[in-house]
Amino acid sequence: MQFKDTNILLGITGGIAAYKTPDLVRKLVAQGANVRVVLTESAKEFVSPLSLQAVSGNTVSDSLLDKDAEAAMGHIELARWADKLLIAPATANFLAKLTYGLADDLLSTLCLATAAPIYVAPAMNQQMWLAKATQSNIKLLQGRDIQFLGPAQGEQACGDVGPGRMLEPEEIVQLILPAVSQVLADKHIIITAGPTREDIDPVRYITNHSSGKMGYALAKAAQVLGANVTLISGPVNLTAPTQVHTINVSSAEDMHKAVMQQMGDCDIFIGCAAVADYRPQQKTSQKIKKSEQELTLTFVKNPDILSDVAHLTKPPFTVGFAAETQNLREYALGKLTRKKLNMIAANDVSNTNIGFNSEQNAVTVFWPEGEKQLNIADKSLLAAQLMQLVAERYTKNTD
Ligand code: C5P
Repeated sequence: MQFKDTNILLGITGGIAAYKTPDLVRKLVAQGANVRVVLTESAKEFVSPLSLQAVSGNTVSDSLLDKDAEAAMGHIELARWADKLLIAPATANFLAKLTYGLADDLLSTLCLATAAPIYVAPAMNQQMWLAKATQSNIKLLQGRDIQFLGPAQGEQACGDVGPGRMLEPEEIVQLILPAVSQVLADKHIIITAGPTREDIDPVRYITNHSSGKMGYALAKAAQVLGANVTLISGPVNLTAPTQVHTINVSSAEDMHKAVMQQMGDCDIFIGCAAVADYRPQQKTSQKIKKSEQELTLTFVKNPDILSDVAHLTKPPFTVGFAAETQNLREYALGKLTRKKLNMIAANDVSNTNIGFNSEQNAVTVFWPEGEKQLNIADKSLLAAQLMQLVAERYTKNTD
């Protein structure tokens, strides 16, 4: 009953995935939530208000200008009543309305009138999801802390295949579950994040596209679970969560040194940084001058921080990441064994909508006895799920 005494306002907009919403309401109610449903005009073409009233046990609202409804629970009261506002499915049209702050029906008005966190589970044709207008609306909405749940990839009602399927009700419920108890209280967690920067000369370096968002989101999620967090970060444009001890480093060697210095009382280590595998053999003390037609640099291997941590005599519970463009399972399982890890979170970076430098991610987590798929979601939500899983496996390992 993780939603006991939680008021969830479910907004349904007009997409075919609306047929799944009675099931979504049942699953929320089963977790103890009080659910009230608001339908847009077009949503009523896809799902019956009567079904939603039956499963939620509450009258369903659909109109801003309904005298009877306003006399019972008016739109401002409804907006205040909500602890969470979930819009599922959210159509491209509704996302556009939300972006521009329109308030021409009950649901869009509630979005402006509520102080509750807003979650959207988009559902639309893959081309509509990928359209530049939709993508730029999504960026703006994410900047306003509206949390995106999905969409999933796959076959669509229209026959297309691609991103745009609404997540399954079960996944939506999992993603909006409230923060769980402080299962990691007093545990010291070290997380590496971001890229590393390998100097070539005083003005040049090589690096990669890692934004650090996943590692920073994990640091926050670990803190929510009560952990004492040390974040060892390569150069990124992010602000560290308050109360997280952050150590800024540049190169892989710096990161290795900082990690090893902090290892003393470490309970869990999460290697989320995109550490450069190689560095230039020499950093020249003067700027390399443009002279020859070709320039050859020799690179040498960097230390593998994650593997070195896992091979310590008394290693912490060690979690790695594997960004792959093919053979995800095989390569991830290979790393799990070779690097002696307790868990590995693998993501497919051939899909440009997730992973490197994007707001969203999806991972498959492997451990020696099992695996779990965490579907596409904003990195903050995915990090919360991943930390929960890490905490569960860590607790089992230390029992
Ligand atoms: O072997 P690969 O680089 O794909 O492994 C990725 C995992 O190893 C990530 O968790 C990353 O943080 C970690 N890693 C590391 N030090 C390196 C290279 C990778 O800690 N030099």
